[in-house]
Amino acid sequence: MNNVLVINGPNLNLLGTREPEIYGSDTLQDVENRMKKYANKFNVGIDFFQSNHEGEIVDSIQAARDKYGFIIINAAAYTHTSVAIRDALSAIEIPSIEVHISNIHKREHFRHKSYLSSVVTGQVMGLGIESYMAALFAALIKMGVKIE
Ligand code: DQA
Repeated sequence: MNNVLVINGPNLNLLGTREPEIYGSDTLQDVENRMKKYANKFNVGIDFFQSNHEGEIVDSIQAARDKYGFIIINAAAYTHTSVAIRDALSAIEIPSIEVHISNIHKREHFRHKSYLSSVVTGQVMGLGIESYMAALFAALIKMGVKIE
């Protein structure tokens, strides 16, 4: 299945205006447009989901089963708190990449712990919104897409 689901967690709908010194000035729509353009170039389907609610994120992960070849997820603050999102990712057995715009290890101590890190295939962080592009690039290669 050559398609990707991109999941964004709480407050990422405010990208562009939210603490721009940390998260930059691009909106979530800008990020999604860029990812879509890149995926389309390689005929890979890409869908996006954003929610501020933990249970909705769990539902979206469960619904991805048998539908997507890869998940890219920025669980935002839930990264540091959510056993439920971790368990959902673990349950569905779709390879996944955890993304963060900022480098969580350079920030407050409470952000250093990720509940997702032990169930995802890999992590990309600290590259601004390029973290999403780097994750997409890796996902395409992992799915066997030829990048020339
Ligand atoms: C974030 C980092 C988290 O600690 C924070 O709660 C976010 C965004 C990032 O992309 O850098 O909302 O996941």
